[in-house]
Amino acid sequence: DERYDFVVVANRLPVDRVVAHDGSPSWKPSPGGLVTALEPVMRANTGAWIGWTGVADDHQEPFDADGMHLVPVPLSAEAVELYYEGFSNDTIWPLYHDVIAQPTYSRRFWEAYVAVNRQFAEAAAAVAAEGGTVWVQDYQLQLVPRMLRELRPDLVIGFFNHIPFPAYGLFSQLPWRREIVEGLLGADLIGFQRRADAGNFLRAVRRIFHVQTARGQVELPAAGQGSWPNSMSDRPRTVVARHFPISIDAKAYVALVERQDVRDRAAQIRHDLGDPTTIMLGVDRLDYTKGIQHRFAAYAELLAEGKLDVDDTVLVQIASPSRERVETYKSLRDEIELTVGRVNGEYGTIAHSAINYLHHGYPREEMVALFLAADVMLVTALRDGMNLVAKEYVATRADDDGVLVLSEFAGAADELKQALLVNPHDIEGLKRAMLSAVHMSRAERRTRMRALRHRVLVHDVERWSKDFLDALAALRPTESARA
Ligand code: G6P
Repeated sequence: DERYDFVVVANRLPVDRVVAHDGSPSWKPSPGGLVTALEPVMRANTGAWIGWTGVADDHQEPFDADGMHLVPVPLSAEAVELYYEGFSNDTIWPLYHDVIAQPTYSRRFWEAYVAVNRQFAEAAAAVAAEGGTVWVQDYQLQLVPRMLRELRPDLVIGFFNHIPFPAYGLFSQLPWRREIVEGLLGADLIGFQRRADAGNFLRAVRRIFHVQTARGQVELPAAGQGSWPNSMSDRPRTVVARHFPISIDAKAYVALVERQDVRDRAAQIRHDLGDPTTIMLGVDRLDYTKGIQHRFAAYAELLAEGKLDVDDTVLVQIASPSRERVETYKSLRDEIELTVGRVNGEYGTIAHSAINYLHHGYPREEMVALFLAADVMLVTALRDGMNLVAKEYVATRADDDGVLVLSEFAGAADELKQALLVNPHDIEGLKRAMLSAVHMSRAERRTRMRALRHRVLVHDVERWSKDFLDALAALRPTESARA
């Protein structure tokens, strides 16, 4: 059996299986920021990737695709319901996004989460080479670092949390808060998106274990010496928690903008929309964290007040289907579609609808064409770990044009300071920002977009993974220190 020096463990494999009409299976890239971010890293490292295929009761053997070794973790239909839809997306997701939706605290969800995390940890323990590096991803797998360390003390273990980490006042609601923090402390390095997220985590460590932390470090005593948190090994260990803001494969976007067919498609989109003066664009997974309703409310008021007009303005909203079996997502879809109908019924004309709403995912080429066509990009998340769409829009605008309206509650706001930053709860402020975006001079658009693009092109996903993996490697004990 082959062993791998570099192993990524994530809830999802970077591919989805599609079955053709004749029954023949093939694989296509799966959606989501995480996958987009790690794919280039995996190719460069020729490592192994452990994850779920996205299909319940799928007992697929390990296989190679796109220069990666992929190891599927089979999840039963019950595990999908309780671990994925349940604990991950009906407990942790709403809790970590500041309880925008009420989290469900269910002991059955928790038990499934423990069991599935163990499955992932065992799969990683089986393929990682002696002394290898394992990089565990995201909130679905917070117990894996500790479980893996107990199985394989020889490994170097990193963890990256792609979503926010909440303030202790909220985190402390979680009945299993202690177990989650213990799970994460199995890692050598715990990465977060924002400085504030790392700070929230370290505060949770201090509050739960009554220990001190300094300079982002947690000093753990050897196992058997004192109570938790112990080092999970026979010697003391240091765990580092720091922020590493994730980014995108910016070069891939730049390459796409250079393609004539993509530019032609952008022109076609403008034409198909009736050549409006202003195209506003929203692109989100259909999720209650994204503030889609707030965006619609501000836009509808601007139409009602006559400050925008459907004859020369259109809002295109791409809402890609997501977690559709979770109740909160179902009711959100109903609410959003009700709003779209109302706004179009109220303000649309025979020639123009106010909101052009599409409940689909699209390939990257089409997204780039849309970004190029959009004069104003609206990112109004109520809470978001990073928001890669904001960075994708910026990377795409090689023409140094277009205006980004960006929520200060998205991690991207820490870096993209030349965007028009908004508090999406403040509908008046949001309306003002939308109008400034519509009326901004070419000179100001250029100045802002240049600065934004510089940031995104330099701090791309390659830089992110390099920063994280370099920091992780620097923590690895040298051979002499180990002996
Ligand atoms: C976010 C999470 C990822 C997740 C993605 C898509 O970006 O941080 O871990 O993969 O959403 O969600 P899904 O539930 O479809 O995997």
